[in-house]
Amino acid sequence: LWLILGIRRRRPGEPPVENGLIPYLGCALQFGANPLEFLLCRQKTYGHIFTCKIAGQYVHFLTDPFSYHSVIARKASGLEKFHFTASAKAFGHESMDPSDGYTTENMHQTFIKTMQGEALQTLTETMMENLQCVMLQSDTLKINSKDWVTEGIFAFCYRVMFESGYLTLFGKELNSQEDKNLARHEAQRALVLNALENFKEFDKIFPALVAGLPIHVFKSGHSARENLAKTLLHENLSKRQNVSDLISLRMFLNDTLSTFNDMSKARTHVAVLWASQANTLPATFWTLFYLIRCPEAMKAAKDEVKKTLENSGQKASLDGHHISLEKEQLDEMPVLDSIIKEAMRLSSASLNVRVAKENFTLQLDNSQSYNIRKDDVIALYPQLLHFDPEIYEDPLTFKYDRYLDENGQEKTTFYRKGRKLRYYYMPFGSGVTKCPGRFFALHEIKQFLSLLLSYFDTELSDKNAKIPPLDQSRAGLGILQPTYDVDFRYKLKCL
Ligand code: HEM
Repeated sequence: LWLILGIRRRRPGEPPVENGLIPYLGCALQFGANPLEFLLCRQKTYGHIFTCKIAGQYVHFLTDPFSYHSVIARKASGLEKFHFTASAKAFGHESMDPSDGYTTENMHQTFIKTMQGEALQTLTETMMENLQCVMLQSDTLKINSKDWVTEGIFAFCYRVMFESGYLTLFGKELNSQEDKNLARHEAQRALVLNALENFKEFDKIFPALVAGLPIHVFKSGHSARENLAKTLLHENLSKRQNVSDLISLRMFLNDTLSTFNDMSKARTHVAVLWASQANTLPATFWTLFYLIRCPEAMKAAKDEVKKTLENSGQKASLDGHHISLEKEQLDEMPVLDSIIKEAMRLSSASLNVRVAKENFTLQLDNSQSYNIRKDDVIALYPQLLHFDPEIYEDPLTFKYDRYLDENGQEKTTFYRKGRKLRYYYMPFGSGVTKCPGRFFALHEIKQFLSLLLSYFDTELSDKNAKIPPLDQSRAGLGILQPTYDVDFRYKLKCL
């Protein structure tokens, strides 16, 4: 009967199991409604590790941060990445896992090579230029005069960051320096803003796709994804200038190492576009939102930006001369770092997942060990860390200097019950699946803030605006979006 119902019985040495009440779905609905509450409640009952059936899959949740290392460090001996399958399902390309035979590209290597080290320098420089073009273009920001402009913080961050990030990765159709034709610039901008609409439409259905629903159920989400892919066909990309190393190398490897057809190749670029924007955009929203409603944070941030510009002999001006902030300068902005980190601590809800390639024994910090079966999933849910009052005092409150030490530098020592933690902050994942774009992500948000604070005065439209709740329907996927937008006002400074 257990077999027929697909219910697992706990074998000796395995973590406690909860099968849930609904066949197949198991605990999926309760987990999905509020993962944090669900896990805290099971943690109280079962302790550091327990197994839940979620949509046909048995997932071992490890909740003790001192034991995280045994999962994160475990690579060669049995835990591998899980997201190849999720990516193929959501984006519609064939498997990117070399063992499935469609490509021999080592994606991990491609990402590290083109997003870190020297490549990061170039990405960062291009982003700085694009952000300034986008922010200071009178038609985008509706700055026809030096009056206040009111807009949603979310709408503003999405528009500015998406357009700049898109142009940084996928290049431009024309060289803006040489081509002064306004109509052609307008057409280029319309294309990117159209891509943003498609991105948002597709992003809405992303949680459902990851949960396993077929894309054909969602008519507009499906066509949005395909529209994005069409603009990213190699024949279109090859006409663009200044395409990033990341995308040019991926194009080359798609062409030389894979058997993908043209649309599949383009869909792999949609996957990279999504990865590059889906977390960055809400992270930018939360950073600006918390910054703008906290006067001390705003003052500290403005002082740091001012100091950084002064130290490099620069000044914001509207005479067409752009500010440049390079990697080294951005890396030395601990206040902005702390503000961004704190905003992400409060809004991140990623699920770190590994699949067991073989049966093995998982050793916990309290010296208990548990048997894990081949193909089982082990999951870490770092929001448990981020909201743990024993690690972060008053965890629901935004404290802009939480990640600053007494010397105003990055704070890296956090404790739980008097013991120093190795893992206390994980919005970018961990170990082998850690986000390869994390350095670029931090740079671009710092650049955005530096420019906004240098060129504009900003304030909340309603000074008492409440913190919008997190949209839990995306829990597990990264930085959550707010359930509604919050208006702010901005005005060009008299420079
Ligand atoms: C993967 C978070 C920005 C590119 C991931 C993962 C997380 C993450 C948690 C791992 C998912 C897993 O466990 O499998 C974030 C956050 C960001 C951000 C919080 C911004 C605040 C970016 C940016 C880029 C990027 C800007 C590229 C320009 C990627 C890629 C992967 C990834 C390509 C897949 C890595 C692989 O398959 O090896 N990101 N990310 N991310 N991220 Fe990011």
